[in-house]
Amino acid sequence: MKTRITELFGIEHPIIQGGMHYVGLAEMAAAVSNAGGLGIITGLTQGTPEKLANEITKCRGLTDKPFGVNLTFLPAVTPPDYPSLVQTIIDSGVKVVETAGNNPQKWLPQLKEADIKVIHKCTSVRHSLKAQSIGCDAISVDGFECGGHPGEDDIPNFILLPRAADELDIPFVASGGMADARSLVASLAMGADGMNMGTRFIATQEAPVHDNVKQGLVAASELDTRLIMRSLRNTERVLTNTAVERLVEKERELGAELKFEDIVSEVAGVYPRVMIDGDMQAGAWSCGMVAGLVYDVPTVKELIDRIMAEADVIIVERLGNFRAA
Ligand SMILES: Cc1cc2nc3c(=O)[nH]c(=O)nc-3n(C[C@H](O)[C@H](O)[C@H](O)COP(=O)(O)O)c2cc1C
Repeated sequence: MKTRITELFGIEHPIIQGGMHYVGLAEMAAAVSNAGGLGIITGLTQGTPEKLANEITKCRGLTDKPFGVNLTFLPAVTPPDYPSLVQTIIDSGVKVVETAGNNPQKWLPQLKEADIKVIHKCTSVRHSLKAQSIGCDAISVDGFECGGHPGEDDIPNFILLPRAADELDIPFVASGGMADARSLVASLAMGADGMNMGTRFIATQEAPVHDNVKQGLVAASELDTRLIMRSLRNTERVLTNTAVERLVEKERELGAELKFEDIVSEVAGVYPRVMIDGDMQAGAWSCGMVAGLVYDVPTVKELIDRIMAEADVIIVERLGNFRAA
């Protein structure tokens, strides 16, 4: 399949693995890139420039295909050393950066100077247009279904994607709720040039996370995510568990009075406990409604090959057969 996204990033299939905290390690990114998609290392999971440089080197050892690095800009009391992380990416020769969380304008001149393609993750048309106007090369349009931070507008992809197509000139991928060939073909039909998957890629053989997490996704249904931290304007979609239900109860009780300190035990330091130790009750971790469409734990190559083969059948046979003679 050839789209503006495959051309832009020099990849075989229009499928991207979005940055994921404690999941987007070298093994994950390399597996996706080796299978013809675009794998992405999550910069902030490494934290320091030295560790990020090592992870990039490790990924290079595992694939000779293009891969990217995710840089998430989040409000933080002690922000990560973004200038050094950006410089590390540039020095490493990585040619794709996925930005998210906040306007990446400050970093664009440096990244563009180094001939790096920037795909910015946006949950609204207005942010997508802003990203286009400041020079981003592509957008990852993240609908309300998505795992992680869907923003505060709550527009699902059936509306958001065609709206993005109506407004944007630069290519975009559909993100949030994407799992299979139907997701890909529907995204293309709505004007996207490919799709980005987060949650689906966690349930693969190569995902460097505890097996409990993979089996948890297979067991979960589309009813098992919760939206948390809305009153803090930092809404996040997470997989439910006892800690998340406790958090939701606190939100109900405290309403607008809720402060971050009230829920810190349910959200801080959770990722290593879930992803490494497999403690599924540890706290809140990002997960999409698409968990309901996760039925197995294939290799990344099996997953991507299946998506591309079935997409072909949908386009040529199912859709083709609807044409009246
Ligand atoms: C466990 C997990 C961790 C994530 N961490 C990040 C992150 O650190 N930075 C980021 O930009 N997006 C993050 N995301 C969002 C994904 O990159 C992607 O946009 C999202 O998962 C798409 O929705 P889906 O899960 O329905 O496929 C995360 C998602 C998950 C499931």
